[in-house]
This record gives sequence, structure tokens and C-alpha cells, in this order.
Amino acid sequence: MQITSVVNQKGGVGKTALTVGAAAALAERGRRVLLIDLDPQGHATTEMLGLPEAPAEAPSLAKALTKTWKGSVEELVVSHPRSTIGPGGAFDVIPTSPGMFDLIRRLDGFRVPGWQLARVIQFANYDHVLIDCPPALDVLTNNALAATHGILVPVQPDRTSIRALRLLNDQLAYVQQAVDREAIPYFGVVPGLYRRPMSTYATEALRELENFGYPLLPHVPLGVVMNEAAAHGMPVTTFAPETTQAAAFREIAGILDGYLTSSPAPVPVPVADEFVFEDFITSVAQTRNENDTGARKKLYDLLPKRPRG
Ligand SMILES: Nc1ncnc2c1ncn2[C@@H]1O[C@H](COP(=O)(O)OP(=O)(O)O)[C@@H](O)[C@H]1O
Ligand SMILES: [Mg+2]
Repeated sequence: MQITSVVNQKGGVGKTALTVGAAAALAERGRRVLLIDLDPQGHATTEMLGLPEAPAEAPSLAKALTKTWKGSVEELVVSHPRSTIGPGGAFDVIPTSPGMFDLIRRLDGFRVPGWQLARVIQFANYDHVLIDCPPALDVLTNNALAATHGILVPVQPDRTSIRALRLLNDQLAYVQQAVDREAIPYFGVVPGLYRRPMSTYATEALRELENFGYPLLPHVPLGVVMNEAAAHGMPVTTFAPETTQAAAFREIAGILDGYLTSSPAPVPVPVADEFVFEDFITSVAQTRNENDTGARKKLYDLLPKRPRG
């Protein structure tokens, strides 16, 4: 079973579209696929796949992660009814549920990134698990990173994405150290959500993204068909199988499948020298305090800091 987390702390970069597209394309190839909707906003469940959220009284991911319910993972999944499934394949979803927002606060009590998600899915029986992460480097994302075999990172070719990638790498280093796990490899960076022809600026930014040395996966073209498919609660591979978007997701699925059968050789993330959360916050607080004497100062004063000296 290969676990892939789709991460980027920026919102609106195409994480959910990529998670759904790649998962559906893998199921179409005859793979047994589980998609986990880890974003409390639940867009994968409701907006893209047209599924209801888990009822309040039913078993749910939120309950499983906090151990207020302790059943097997099979009881959490629903099968997606409108996807093309190849022979032997499956497309199951752990949908969003009430309590996902509250969960962040409850899991944050643990402080260190946890193994809660890994524990919940450890006995799952799939070829691929794809996790749609929230747009934040929060405790839920940390749980996904702790459990993952690799990450897929959708990016837009612009400067903010380059900075986002640096911050993400700091977070990878932090999680690796905090849960004492091996380096988290990049399964790939997926450029998307830009117009053709590309501007000089976007071309420049894409070149800079390439310089990171991570596998650059096929680009998912912009297209209103993505929204049309979502409006029908279908993945684009089923709704519009002949489109360039469907083709891109199939290519990406092929690459993920390749990692399954032949061990991946992705570029490992350079481990930053002892990333310490408190040091990070301390430097943020210092910078903020230098530039700001207003209300923010009070906020940063509340955060944990290293004693000086
Ligand atoms: N290839 C695409 N073409 C057109 N619209 C897209 C495409 N990919 C994503 N979108 C739209 O862009 C918005 C943001 O995408 P989404 O996957 O929800 O991003 P994220 O999960 O990173 O917040 C959504 O409205 C989605 O439908
Ligand atoms: Mg999303």
C-alpha cells in the first residue's frame, strides 16, 4: 500500500482537483484506491465527488483520529458510485464529517505531529491511499506527512509558490525530526492553473521550480470541464474521458503506479539543520515586533518562545 499526500499550504492551487483526478485515474487503471478527505472544508467529498458528509452519529475520521470511536477502517469508507473502475479496482472515500474543524484544536493538544492518521489506516487494504490535505501546515497535514510514502505538490508558476515550497520543505524537515522518520520524498511537483501561452514571468518561475530538482509531473491544463465534472459529482476521467485534463491525470496515475512497482528514486528533501519550532516562532516574533507596534505584537507575545541566553 502506497500512501501519497497532496500538500501545499497555499489554498486554491489545485490540491483537491489533483487528489480526485489522480485517485480516479488510478481506479480506472484497476487499482484499489482510497481517498482521504483530510481538509475540514470537505471540498473533495461534497464539491468534487458529490458525496454527503458522514452523518453526525456515524463512525467518522474525526472520531477515529481522537479515538472516541475505535472500529475498523472499512466502516469509515464509502464507495464512489460514479467513477469508471478498471477490472480489480476500487474507488473508496473517507468523507469529511462534522467535527473535522474541532479536531484541529483537539489534536493540537498533542503539540507534536502525530501518528493518529497512520494508526487509523494501518490495516487498510488498498494499492494506493491519496490524502487531500488542508491548505495549512497544521496538525492534520503533519499527520498526513508522518504517514506518507511521498508527496505530490500542485503549484502555480509564480514567486509565491517558490516561497511556499521552501516553507513546505522546512515543515517536512520538522516532521521528519519530530516523529523520527525517514526523509519524505517528493513524488512530484504538478504545475497547473496558469494560462497558455505562458507569460515570461510564469516561464521564469517554472524554471526556478525546476531548479529544486524534484520530478516535474505533467501539467494539468486549465479548463471549465473541471468544474462541470465536479457539478456532476464525477471525476473528469469519467465525465470527460477524452479531455487533456483526463489525459494528464492518467499520466500522473501512471507515474504513481510506477513508484508502487519499482521503488521510487525521488530527490530526498534536504534535512534542514535542526529546525526548532520555538526558534522559528522567536524569529517571527522578533521580526514582527520590529515592524509592528500594534495589535499583532500582543498576539506574537503569546506564542511559545525559547528562553534567551
Ligand atoms: N485544471 C483546472 N482547470 C480549471 N479549474 C480548476 C482546475 N483545477 C482546479 N480548478 C479549480 O480551481 C479551484 C481551486 O482548486 P482546488 O483543487 O480546490 O484547490 P485547493 O484544494 O488547493 O484549494 C477550484 O474551484 C477548482 O475547481
Ligand atoms: Mg482543497
